[in-house]
Amino acid sequence: MSYDFDTVLPRLSTDSQKWQKYEGRDILPLWVADMDFRSPPAVIEALHRRVEHGIFGYARPTKSQIEAVVTALKSRYGWTIDPLWLVWLPGLVVGLNVTAQAFAQPGDQVLCNTPVYPPFMTAPRNSGREALTVPLVLNNGRWEIDWDAMERAVTPKTKLFFLCNPHNPVARVFRRDELERIANFCLRHNLILCSDEIHCDLILDDLPHIPTGTLGSEIAARTITLMAPSKTYNVPGFGTSLAIISDPKLRATFVRATAGIVAEVNVLGYAACEAAYRDSEDWRQALLAYLRGNRDFLFAFLAREMPGVKIEAPMEATYLAWLNVEALGLADPIAHFEKHGVGLSDGSFFGVPRGKYVRINLGCPRATLAEALRRMKTSLSA
Ligand SMILES: Cc1ncc(COP(=O)(O)O)c(C=O)c1O
Repeated sequence: MSYDFDTVLPRLSTDSQKWQKYEGRDILPLWVADMDFRSPPAVIEALHRRVEHGIFGYARPTKSQIEAVVTALKSRYGWTIDPLWLVWLPGLVVGLNVTAQAFAQPGDQVLCNTPVYPPFMTAPRNSGREALTVPLVLNNGRWEIDWDAMERAVTPKTKLFFLCNPHNPVARVFRRDELERIANFCLRHNLILCSDEIHCDLILDDLPHIPTGTLGSEIAARTITLMAPSKTYNVPGFGTSLAIISDPKLRATFVRATAGIVAEVNVLGYAACEAAYRDSEDWRQALLAYLRGNRDFLFAFLAREMPGVKIEAPMEATYLAWLNVEALGLADPIAHFEKHGVGLSDGSFFGVPRGKYVRINLGCPRATLAEALRRMKTSLSA
C-alpha cells in the first residue's frame, strides 16, 4: 500500500499548537515536534471504531492493547517485558517530572547532556531539584558524551541521569559500547537511569535501537524507560505514553509519586496506541523513507544554497535537525527567520548559548520544507 506524505493539509485555524503560534502571520511553523501528516489509516480507523461505541468511561488498557506494546518491543528490539512493568502515563514529560520527584530530593542533582530536549532541564527545576548539565562534544563529526567532564561533574548529590536516545536535538543513536559505558557510569555513581526513548521507532539509518533496559539485569534494575507512540505515529495530542520499569521497588516508588496527581490515559489514546504498534508497520516504513528523503533534501540544499548553515554530524534518527547558524552572524536567528516567514526552535532552549543553533522540524510535506528553505535562503541575501 502506498501512503501520501506529499499533500499539504491545512492545519491553520485548527487546535494545532504548532500552527496557532503564528496565526495571522505568513510563517511556516517548523518548530514543535509534531508532524504535518495524517496518522496511519489503521490508527484513524481504530479511533472511528472507538468513537462509534459512544461510551467514554474511565479507562484501563485491554489485554490486546497491552499485547500490542509487548509484541512490538519483542519484535523490534528483542526486549521481552512483563506486562506488569508497564506504567501508563499521559505524556513523557510527565514521566521526567515524576522521576525527578520520586528519585531525587530537593537540592539533589539530575544529570543530563546538552543540548537536550528542554524538559530534561526544567523537570528537575520544577520541583526544586538541580539540572546538572554536561555538554556533548563533537568528535570527528559525531556528538559524543564527554566522559572526563561527566566524572568531574558528578557529586554525591547527583541521583539521576536523564538519557535521550535517540537524541533530540542532535539526532544521534547511541551505540552499544556507549550505552554500556553509560550503564557502568550510573552503577559506579549509584544513579538511577531514566532513558527517554520516545524517538526509538524513528531511526533513519541502518542502526539498531538498543533499549537501555536490555543491557543487563544490574542496570535494568535501576532503569526507568520512557516510550510512546506519539512521535512516530503523530499522535502526541492523545497524551499516551509508557514508563517501563522492571524492578518492583523502583516501580512502586515511581507509581507512588504519581498518586492523585497524574491523570489516567484516556480511551482514545489506548485505541490509537494499539493500532499504531500492531497495525501500522507498513506506514511507519513508508514514513521513514519519506523522512530520509526530507533529510537528504535538507542536507543537499544546505550544502548547495546555504553553506553558512552547518549540520555538524549525520542525522541518524528523528525528524529534527540541529543546525549551526553561528557563521551567519545573526544576533537573534529565530527572530530573523520568523521575520522572513519561517518558525524554528531556538537552540538556547536546549541549553546552548543563544544565536548559535536552531532546530528545524522535517516532519512535513517536502513542498513545505522546500518553501521554508527557500525563504531562509532569501532571508540571507535580504
Ligand atoms: C526526547 C523527548 N521526550 C519527550 C517528548 C514529549 O513527550 P510528551 O509529549 O509525551 O510529553 C519529546 C517531544 O518532542 C521529546 O523529543
